[in-house]
Amino acid sequence: MRKIKVGIIGFGTIGSGVVKILASSKDIIRQRLGAEIEVAKIADLDVSSDRGVVVDSNLLTTDTKEVVDNPEVEIVVELMGGYEPARSLMLQAIAGGKHVVTANKALLAKHGDEIFSAVEDQQVAIGFEGAVAGAIPIIRSIREAFVANEITAIEGIVNGTANYILSKMSDEQCDFAVALKEAQEKGFAEADPTFDIEGIDSAHKISLLTRLAYGTPVNFDDITVQGISGISIDDIECAREFGYRIKLLAISKFDGESVDIRVHPAMIPQSHPMANVNGVLNAVRVCDNLMEENVLIGHGAGSLPTGSAVVADIVEQARDILSNNKNRVASQSFLKNEMRSIPMMNIEEIDSEYFLRFSVLDNPGVLSRISGILGNHSIGILSVIQKGRCDQGKGVPLIMMTHRASEKNVQLALKEIDALDVVCEKSNLIRVEN
Ligand code: HSE
Repeated sequence: MRKIKVGIIGFGTIGSGVVKILASSKDIIRQRLGAEIEVAKIADLDVSSDRGVVVDSNLLTTDTKEVVDNPEVEIVVELMGGYEPARSLMLQAIAGGKHVVTANKALLAKHGDEIFSAVEDQQVAIGFEGAVAGAIPIIRSIREAFVANEITAIEGIVNGTANYILSKMSDEQCDFAVALKEAQEKGFAEADPTFDIEGIDSAHKISLLTRLAYGTPVNFDDITVQGISGISIDDIECAREFGYRIKLLAISKFDGESVDIRVHPAMIPQSHPMANVNGVLNAVRVCDNLMEENVLIGHGAGSLPTGSAVVADIVEQARDILSNNKNRVASQSFLKNEMRSIPMMNIEEIDSEYFLRFSVLDNPGVLSRISGILGNHSIGILSVIQKGRCDQGKGVPLIMMTHRASEKNVQLALKEIDALDVVCEKSNLIRVEN
């Protein structure tokens, strides 16, 4: 039986999951593919730790050249993460005519133009299903299942760590710090959780989905990114009183002229299809001209869920190798010469409804001063809640929901409000996505 040989760089959580799946699913893969996938080499700086999977020690190496320059290897699987040396190794493998699979969203978000261009010039394939929302087949859906659909919007809960923290805060009324600590103890959050909680990981993912959905490169540094570390239990409780839940959303909308792409905490109605996607689960909602909306929910991280997405990419490339197909599916979902630079909207250009939280002195006239400033900036108030009375000189939370307003006006109004002598802390804003 024909064997397709793969080389793996990075034997961490995902790498070991891939090796486990290739061993445990060997038969079903053979039954579906008509060939065997064989691991020819695994490179990692650490080849002595127990990864929970039995591997012939001859397969392990600390030298990445034994993977990328290995003439037997037809598919190079990059699972080391980070920018360098992952970028150089991927480019080297591509230049050598090897197909590549990666779960490295940070690399593709920052260096996607260079890597996709190399892939297209060399006429090899790139798989990156594991890079976005783990086991949810969103890359394959956009590149293949929605090939005739004009996508107008994608919204996702694409970071399990942030979703776990927000769900725990909401379900157990605990503070952000308590929820983060528990996520770290359970292994859902890294020791340095910055990328997850500050929205950077979600931004990497939505930049990739945007590239595929609309056929545009995305300048990662132009994405508005706001994380969840400023979300308080008061925000979560008030959101609930208004009938909403707070989620970290990655959003990408295309109006035919420009792309509105951003990551921030958002209030979504409890009836929204993603409002009850909790814990470490991910969800991606795709809207288009043919099916209105399609919501995919599943496990966005972890050794086996993400490993299964990586294995699916390997098998897809193996199918093309076996049938002598090249470029069956455009790597960026649009052909290289059909890609165009779509302008990115500045966050100040958007309109939204807003949830505003002020910390104010509990004095007569404060509400009218704040509502006056909002009114002067054409911001209509939908409802108001004041939480409790306060000790002398300390602030109380004053919460407002607004009608749809311009972001620019809201930012100008908040600047004026924050300068008032009755305002005790910087105000907080959460956008509402209905
Ligand atoms: N750290 C990510 C998450 C998984 O928490 O969802 C890998 O992208």
